[in-house]
Amino acid sequence: MRKILIIHGPNLNLLGNRETSIYGTVSLDDINAKLEALARLSGVELAFFQSNHEGDIVDIIGRSAKDGFSAIVINPAAYTHTSIAIRDAVSAVNVPVVEVHLSNIYKREEFRHQSLVAPACIGQISGFGVQSYLLGLTAAIDLSAETDRARSGK
Ligand code: DQA
Repeated sequence: MRKILIIHGPNLNLLGNRETSIYGTVSLDDINAKLEALARLSGVELAFFQSNHEGDIVDIIGRSAKDGFSAIVINPAAYTHTSIAIRDAVSAVNVPVVEVHLSNIYKREEFRHQSLVAPACIGQISGFGVQSYLLGLTAAIDLSAETDRARSGK
């Protein structure tokens, strides 16, 4: 079964209680459960990873091809706007990456308008709440099929 990695960046473990006027009351477990339901219907397997530490996120992206992942959905959270290391990790691996954000980062403070990570990704989905993740996973499922075709040389 094709495997897709879901990466949640810093402070997303606090969803549910964190700035609910922006992020709503949905928890990270709720988001993961919705993703899991979509994955089951689509016949793909998911692995979930949340970290507040940049290097841990860089490490898991760097290992992702060797670990058998065919696509990644990432919400880099605050690292979106600061992390050249995560961008370089995305550029380095032969795995397609979809960037997602719950809020519309272009509607918020100016420092959130730039994503350092997005130029290394296939695309970005921003502003649809939990739906951003589900749209991101839908894209990643298609991309993962292409990855597997390319890897098997067919
Ligand atoms: C976020 C947007 C980021 O600017 C912020 O730092 C986050 C969450 C989002 O999902 O809307 O932590 O990535």
